[in-house]
This record gives sequence, C-alpha cells and structure tokens, in this order.
Amino acid sequence: MRAVFADGAGGPEVLVVRDLPDPSPGPGEVVLEVAAAGLNRADLLQRQGFYPPPPGASDVLGMECSGTVAAVGEGVDGWSVGDQACALLSAGAYATHVTVPAGQLMPVPTGVGLVEAAALPEVACTVWSNVFMLAHLAADEVLLVHGGAGGIGSFAIQLASAAGARVLTTAGTADKRAFCESLGAERAIDYHDEDFVAVVKEVTDGRGADVVLDNMGASYLQRNVDALATEGRLVVIGMQGGTKGEIDLSTLLRKRGAVLATTLRARPAEEKAAICASVVEHVWPLVADGAVRPIVEGTVPLDDVRRAHELMESGSHTGKILLTV
Ligand SMILES: NC(=O)c1ccc[n+]([C@@H]2O[C@H](COP(=O)([O-])OP(=O)(O)OC[C@H]3O[C@@H](n4cnc5c(N)ncnc54)[C@H](OP(=O)(O)O)[C@@H]3O)[C@@H](O)[C@H]2O)c1
Repeated sequence: MRAVFADGAGGPEVLVVRDLPDPSPGPGEVVLEVAAAGLNRADLLQRQGFYPPPPGASDVLGMECSGTVAAVGEGVDGWSVGDQACALLSAGAYATHVTVPAGQLMPVPTGVGLVEAAALPEVACTVWSNVFMLAHLAADEVLLVHGGAGGIGSFAIQLASAAGARVLTTAGTADKRAFCESLGAERAIDYHDEDFVAVVKEVTDGRGADVVLDNMGASYLQRNVDALATEGRLVVIGMQGGTKGEIDLSTLLRKRGAVLATTLRARPAEEKAAICASVVEHVWPLVADGAVRPIVEGTVPLDDVRRAHELMESGSHTGKILLTV
C-alpha cells in the first residue's frame, strides 16, 4: 500500500508518499481499499506539527475516506468484501488502504457516488453530534453557523434547514455568501465588514441565536455569547481565532446560556461508533432524498497531496476538497 506522511513539521512540501506493508484487519476491523479521502483543517495543523494523532493511531494523515471493503476481521457483522462504505477515522485516510474499526464504517448513502461519499463522514458526524445530539437544535430555533461556505458550514446550513430551523451564517466573500443562501441560509453575513451580533439581533427581532456553531474560538467568544438568545447554546468546534479567550460571565448567567466545546477525533471508538450509527439513522435519509448533499470543491490525485493542502490553505475553496486514489 501507499500512504501520505509528514516528513517533519512544516508547509505542504513536507508531505511525502511512501510504500508500506499491506494491512490486515484485527478483530472488529475491516480493511478498506480507499477510493477518496476528505481533507480537514486538522490535517493542516497535524502537518505543521501542532496536532498529533491520538495515542495508538497511525502517523498517516487523513480522518475520513470512502472505498470498498477488501478484508473483514474476526467478529465483524454486517460487512462483506466488495461492499462500498465511507469511514470516520482517527488517522490513516490519505492512503490506498486503511484499517477501520467496523463501528466507524457507514454505508454510502443512496444517490451518492463512491468518491463523493468521502466528503461526508467528518462533516456529518461533527455537525450532527454537536448541533443536534449535544445542542439539541429544534425545528423552530435559530442556528448561527460561522464559516458557512466551508466543509462543516455548508453541511450545517443544509442539515439545519432540512430540520426546519432558521439558519444565519458568516462568510468572507460575496460569492460565498450567495452560495450559503442558495443552500438555505436566510442571511449570510460578511464577517469582514458587518457586525454579526447586530445582524443576528436585527434578523431575530432582538432575540438572538438559539445555537451558535463556532469555528473561530477565542476571537469570537464574547461576541458569540452576545449573539445568543436566552437559554442559547454556543458550541465551539474550532480555534482558527486562537485558544485563550475571555467572556463576561454576567451575560452568560443572565441568558442562562451554555458554552460547550468538543473534538471528534479524540473521542473513544465506542462514542464514534454511536455517532456514526446515529448519523446513518437520522442524516443519511436526508442525503438520500436530496435535502442534504455533499459539497465538493474538487478532487486532487493522492500523489498531488501538496497541491491539495495549498488549495485548502488558500481559503478559496467552497465545501470539501478530496484526494482521489
Ligand atoms: N471539533 C471537531 O470535532 C471538528 C471537526 C471538524 C472540523 N472542525 C473545525 O471546524 C472548522 C471548519 O472546518 P472545515 O473542514 O469546514 O474547514 P474549511 O472548509 O477550511 O472552512 C474554514 C472556514 O473558516 C471560515 N472563516 C475564516 N475566517 C473566518 C472568520 N473571521 N469568521 C468566520 N468564519 C471564518 C472560512 O470562511 P470563508 O471561506 O468564507 O473565508 C471557512 O468557511 C475548523 O476550525 C476545523 O478545525 C472541528
């Protein structure tokens, strides 16, 4: 098999493709022959040396992929050689083959191509587990999702709209804002030139957002709390704006608000399996009937992985970037 490693910490130039012995599945695992792998911001951080894989996980980059089952380990039920699937991983997806705990394997939703399916595991599991399982967004509530044109954001807009919520979002360019509104956002806010707190208040008649899904962390912390409605829930999933912030707790107390934060990658396998099962039950039917679709900026061959990282770093993309094998 062939796989992508970071040879030291640095820019895209540290990424190298190397040969490895072919994997065989342990008990409870399957081996996937990879069709495509999705890029994630965390992959850039890992390459830069800031985000090592969890203990015991492979050094091969990549946290999601799609492919065909090539071997099935002892004790695995429901999967056979030749089945098509997509997978949520701690590591190892940028490769021709990868070993996957069976609980983190999901069928390819009806109507989605095998390559496209690599765009789904991270966004579906992250958005579903945070916005719905944790923050309990309800049909008549308002979601503010930052970065609506990105991989996570474009999925969150669609899923929350399909669930009957009102969706507000932020994006950096006019084209991206128009795209977010085409996906179902009621209003896409210019994060360069508009005050998102003021817009959220204006659009909700002063009430604020019931749930905020945040990718920025420290730099937006106080403003996100300011944008919350009474009993609102802020869920921080990214730290693009730094890790150390300060909030005025009196605002949070007065609103009876909650600040939540999670990361998917570090969760134990049983929790990931439970999230995957819930996604298959609740999200895949929405994908199958076309209410929610994978958004793919483009595909790049595995051997051009450096170019794929440059593209994500440029920030010009909309939706997901995929590596094809
Ligand atoms: N905790 C978890 O389990 C988990 C899992 C997956 C992802 N994440 C995090 O979720 C975030 C999004 O990931 P992704 O894969 O969707 O990456 P992505 O496709 O590269 O999206 C990044 C987004 O950040 C937006 N952005 C940049 N500056 C902003 C600002 N000042 N205000 C608002 N938005 C801004 C970009 O908006 P424009 O394109 O409009 O500039 C873009 O939509 C990342 O921080 C990632 O680490 C967390």
